[in-house]
Amino acid sequence: MRKSHGGQEVLRDVDLDVGRGEFLAVMGPSGSGKSTLLYAMSGMDSPSAGTVVFDGRALTGLSEAELGELRLHRMGFVFQQVHLLRNLTLLDNVVLPGFLARARPRAEVVGRARALMAGAGVGDLADREVTEASGGQLQRVGISRALVNDPAIIFADEPTGALDSAAAETVLRHLAGLRTSGTTLVVVTHDAYVAAHADRVIAMADGRIDGELSLGNVDPDDAPAMANRHARVLEWRG
Ligand SMILES: Nc1ncnc2c1ncn2[C@@H]1O[C@H](COP(=O)(O)OP(=O)(O)OP(=O)(O)O)[C@@H](O)[C@H]1O
Ligand SMILES: [Mg+2]
Repeated sequence: MRKSHGGQEVLRDVDLDVGRGEFLAVMGPSGSGKSTLLYAMSGMDSPSAGTVVFDGRALTGLSEAELGELRLHRMGFVFQQVHLLRNLTLLDNVVLPGFLARARPRAEVVGRARALMAGAGVGDLADREVTEASGGQLQRVGISRALVNDPAIIFADEPTGALDSAAAETVLRHLAGLRTSGTTLVVVTHDAYVAAHADRVIAMADGRIDGELSLGNVDPDDAPAMANRHARVLEWRG
C-alpha cells in the first residue's frame, strides 16, 4: 500500500498482515507515517495505491456509507485525547454507539456498557460527566465506548500519550487484557513499555516498515517475562 499527500509519499510499499487476536504495536519517530497507516488500515482514509482487506472485504471498494457501518460495528477507535460528549453522563457516552448501531436491544446495550465500564475499573463513574473524572479514567471510559459494539479490532493512536505513568499502566493493562476476548489490537505508541506488551512491534521510518520484532504471547501478569520483553524492545530500538 502507498499513500501520498500533495505529491509527497508518506507511506511507501507498506505490506502488512495483522492476525486475528494479535496485539500489534506501531512505533517510529514523529512524521514517520504511523497515524497515516492507522487511518489507511481502518478505512478512515484511503491509500493512493494498493488495497486494505479487512475480514475478507476490500475496504478500498466500499462506499463512505458502507465504511461508516463497518467502522461502527466492527472497529473501535481510541485516540490520545478522548472525545466524550460533555452534556451526557459517562455511561450515556459509552452507550451511544451501541444505540446508533441498532444491533442489540437498548437494555442489552446499557448492560454491556455498564459491564465494560466495570471491567475497566470505572463502573462507579457511570453517572458522572466529563468534567468529573480524571484523564486516565476518561481514557478507560473511551475504551469502553470503543468496545460497546464488540468490535473485531481496536485501533489506538497514542492511547497513553496524555497520561501519567500510573494511569498509563492501568489503561495499558486494560487494553492488553482485551486479547483474552479475541479482540485484535493495533496500537501506535512512542512508549517502549507499551510496545513491550504487544505480540509484535513494527517500526516505521520515513513511510516504510523499517523493522519488525516478534515478541510472542506472554501472560501480562508474568513480571519476569514482561521485564525481559521490555529489555528486548529497548535493545532493538537502540
Ligand atoms: N492530511 C495531510 N496532508 C498533508 N500531509 C500529511 C497529512 N497527514 C499527514 N501528512 C504528512 O505525512 C507524514 C506522516 O504523518 P503521520 O501523521 O502519519 O506521522 P506520525 O508517525 O503519526 O507522527 P506523530 O508521531 O507525530 O503523530 C508527515 O510528514 C505529515 O506531515
Ligand atoms: Mg501520529
